[in-house]
Amino acid sequence: MIELVLSAVWYILPAYVTNSSAVLFAGKSPIDSGAKFLDGKRLLGPGKTWKGFIGAVILGCFVGAVQAFFSTSDTFLLAIFLSVGAMFGDAVGSFVKRRLGLERGEAAPFLDQWDFLFGAFLLNGLGALFLDLWFPSLFLILLVLVLTTFLHLFTNWIAYELNLKSNPW
Ligand code: CTP
Ligand code: MG
Repeated sequence: MIELVLSAVWYILPAYVTNSSAVLFAGKSPIDSGAKFLDGKRLLGPGKTWKGFIGAVILGCFVGAVQAFFSTSDTFLLAIFLSVGAMFGDAVGSFVKRRLGLERGEAAPFLDQWDFLFGAFLLNGLGALFLDLWFPSLFLILLVLVLTTFLHLFTNWIAYELNLKSNPW
């Protein structure tokens, strides 16, 4: 079991580092440039910036480069897909939150913890489909979902304690 947990963490690590590091790069230029959706509310909101997106993706890819050093070269390509996917999913999550009328930073249980994972799985899937990229088993995906729920809540709480975030979620 411990080996399965470790392989799940190893697999999702780039997406995980990407998602939790965006807050460290928090910039000023929002991805939606202040644009509003049909409902009059922001498209993504002020919490999604280009600097955060790009900085986090670069850090995730760096983790992938380190991982590739210990395994196959395919690992680096996988990390690029996982990192971009994570930030894409995170932005889609914010899009959904704005549609639900939630302000930046307001909690959306499960969506906050899982949006970046679904983005990562989606891009990983596209990579598997078109580039023959490695894709995890359904069991590994479910394990990642469960594990990350706990890890995500834990790291957000740390970021809150370090005054990097205004909410502990
Ligand atoms: N961040 C960023 N750019 C991104 C993602 C995150 O600059 N693409 C920064 C923002 O400062 C954001 C913080 O990281 O406030 C925390 O990220 P997250 O929890 O995803 O955003 P929230 O502030 O909770 O906003 P939302 O309600 O839209 O999820
Ligand atoms: Mg949040």
